[in-house]
Amino acid sequence: MSKLWGGRFTKETNKLVEELTASISFDQKLAKEDIQGSLAHVQMLGEQNIISKEDADKIAKGLNVVGEKLEKGELSYSIAHEDIHMNIEKFLIDEIGPVGGKLHTGRSRNDQVATDMHIYLKNHTEEIIKLVESVQGAIVEQAEKNIDTILPGYTHLQRAQPISFAHHLLTYFWMLERDKGRLVDSLDRVNWLPLGAGALAGTTFPIDRERTAELLGFEHVYPNSIDAVSDRDFILEFLSTASIMMMHISRLSEELVIWSSQEFQFVELDDSFCTGSSIMPQKKNPDVPELLRAKTGRVYGNLMGLLTVLKGLPLAYNKDMQEDKEGMFDTVETVEGSLQLLAPMIETMVVNHDKMRLATNQDYSNATDIADYLVTKGMPFREAHEVIGKIVLDGIKQSKFLLDMSLDEFQKYSPLFKEDIFKVLTPEHVVSARNSYGGTSQSQVAKQIILAKDKLRKL
Ligand code: ARG
Repeated sequence: MSKLWGGRFTKETNKLVEELTASISFDQKLAKEDIQGSLAHVQMLGEQNIISKEDADKIAKGLNVVGEKLEKGELSYSIAHEDIHMNIEKFLIDEIGPVGGKLHTGRSRNDQVATDMHIYLKNHTEEIIKLVESVQGAIVEQAEKNIDTILPGYTHLQRAQPISFAHHLLTYFWMLERDKGRLVDSLDRVNWLPLGAGALAGTTFPIDRERTAELLGFEHVYPNSIDAVSDRDFILEFLSTASIMMMHISRLSEELVIWSSQEFQFVELDDSFCTGSSIMPQKKNPDVPELLRAKTGRVYGNLMGLLTVLKGLPLAYNKDMQEDKEGMFDTVETVEGSLQLLAPMIETMVVNHDKMRLATNQDYSNATDIADYLVTKGMPFREAHEVIGKIVLDGIKQSKFLLDMSLDEFQKYSPLFKEDIFKVLTPEHVVSARNSYGGTSQSQVAKQIILAKDKLRKL
C-alpha cells in the first residue's frame, strides 16, 4: 500500500518493520482527540488565509464525517498507515479527495501527537478528579455513621490505642485529598498546547497558535517549539501522581482484606463485591480489594517504563516516544476503574461495631491512658511508663487485662491510684480524652468531617 510519506522511497517497507513501527493498534484510542485537534488546526488555517475558507470548511466537514463513520465502525484502520494520525488523514482524503491533503499544512505529526496526548490527559485528569471525589464522598458517608464506633488502632500491626473508626477511615480521605491536589496542580502543565511547533522548529506559515489554543480550550502555548515536541513530562507527572494514589488505594485495600478476614471480622464487604471459590463452598473472597492492591504494580511499572524510555533521548522527537501511550492509557483505565469500584464498595460495606468494640476490651491499648493518669497525679511520665509496664507484664502473666484489675491490684504499684482510675480505663473514655486538634475524640472527628465536607463542596 502506498504511504503518505512514500515520495523518497524506492522500496516497500519490510512487513516486520511495518508491524514494529505501527502504533495504530493502540493509538486508535486517540481518534476523537486527533479529530478535535485537526478541526481547530484547520479552522485556524482558514482564518489565517493559509488555506481558503472553502477548503477549510470542506476539510472540517470531512473530518466530522470520518469521526461519525469511525464511531459507527464503518472504517477499518490499516497498519500500512502506521498510526491514528495518518489513518485519519487517509480516511479524510478518501472522503473528500486531494483537498484533504491540505490539512497537514504547517503541522507535523510530532506536534500533532503531543497535542492529542495533552487533550486526552486533560479530559481524563478532570474525570479522575471527579472519581476521587466520589470515593471521598463514600468515605465521609461511612465516617459519619461511625464516629462512635471504636476499634483498636495499630502501630506495627500491634494494638496501640483505641480509636474512632471514622477517624481511621478519614485518613484515606486526606490522602486522596492530596492526590486530588496533585492532579489539579498537574493540569497547570497539561494546559499548554504544543500544536504549531511543527516537526521541531516551528513553521514558515503565518499560523496563530493562540487562536488554536483558544479553540481547543488550552490556557497557554508552549513557547519553545523544540520543547513542545520533545518532552513527555506532563505524562510522567500524571503517572507519578497515579502511582502515589494507587499506593494509597492499595493500603486501604489491604486493610479491607485484613478486616474482612475471619480473624478480624471488622467489616463485611457486600456480596456483589466478592467472589466464591470453585472448590470451597464456604468461601467469600475479597477479590476486588486484592486486585486493586495488585493493580498498583502495573501503574508503578508504567511510570518506570516511561522514565526509562525518555532518559537518554537527544532533542527533539524520537520514535522512542511512541512508547509513551500504552502505559498512559493503561494507567488512566486502571485508575478510573479502581476508583469506580472503590466508592460503592466503601458505601455498601457493613461495619461490625460489636467485633471492633469487643477487640478493644481484650488488649492493653489503654495503657498509655493509665500512665497519663499517674502523670495527672504528679508522677513524671517516664516513671509512670515504667510502673504501667510492670502492671501490664503482671497482667499478661495472669491473663488479665487492665480493664479487669481491681483498685487493690493497681495500688500495689502506686498509692496514687484512686477509685477514679476506672473512669479512665474504658475505651470510650480513652477515645474521647484524645481531644487535641486532629485527634480521635468524637468531637474532633465531628469537626474533621465538617472540614472534609467543606473540601468536597469547594471543587
Ligand atoms: N505515532 C507517532 C508517535 O506516537 C507519531 C509521531 C510520529 N512522528 C514521526 N516523525 N515519525 O510518536
